Amino acid sequence: MRKAVYPGTFDPITLGHVDVIAQVAPLFDELVVAVLHNPSKRPWFDLDERLDMIREAVLPYPHVRVDAFSGLLVDYCRSSGILCVVRGVRNHVDLQNEMAMAQMNRALCEDLVTLFVPTSPEWSFVSSSLVKDVAMHGGDVSRFVTPRVADALAERTGGLAKRHV
Ligand code: PNS
Repeated sequence: MRKAVYPGTFDPITLGHVDVIAQVAPLFDELVVAVLHNPSKRPWFDLDERLDMIREAVLPYPHVRVDAFSGLLVDYCRSSGILCVVRGVRNHVDLQNEMAMAQMNRALCEDLVTLFVPTSPEWSFVSSSLVKDVAMHGGDVSRFVTPRVADALAERTGGLAKRHV
């Protein structure tokens, strides 16, 4: 069975993340979207909220499962029988950071392969951080996230973020 993990913070999931999932899901029998549980990062959305938002976003993809992990990604992969890590790459800055992570993960677990997936151009500037910043200042984020996430952002920002209509 070909399994891969798409790990991340997903605070919150964006349409850029969904684009990566859509590109990769057909290549594997199972793709696990794995959310890092790391309260010290002080996410906007708690783990359960992030998991729920992702579950809703990946409904069209039957082979995609959503899970949480804490600790090292390589340990999660070992215990789940996963040999492939998927990471989206938007630009050369991402590539530089992702190279270091991929090589560190490979040094920790030599069987682990990282697959870099270029995001589609329309999402190359979209990140969870920027989406939160736009929402916090009352901007319209509905083009960058699912309706469910837009609603959650509107709720979190006291209605400042525009809801999807
Ligand atoms: O969405 P993000 O924040 O870019 O995801 C980063 C993530 C969660 C994939 C990375 O920080 C991670 O794997 N953390 C788990 C701890 C770990 O394994 N650290 C060593 C990685 S080189």
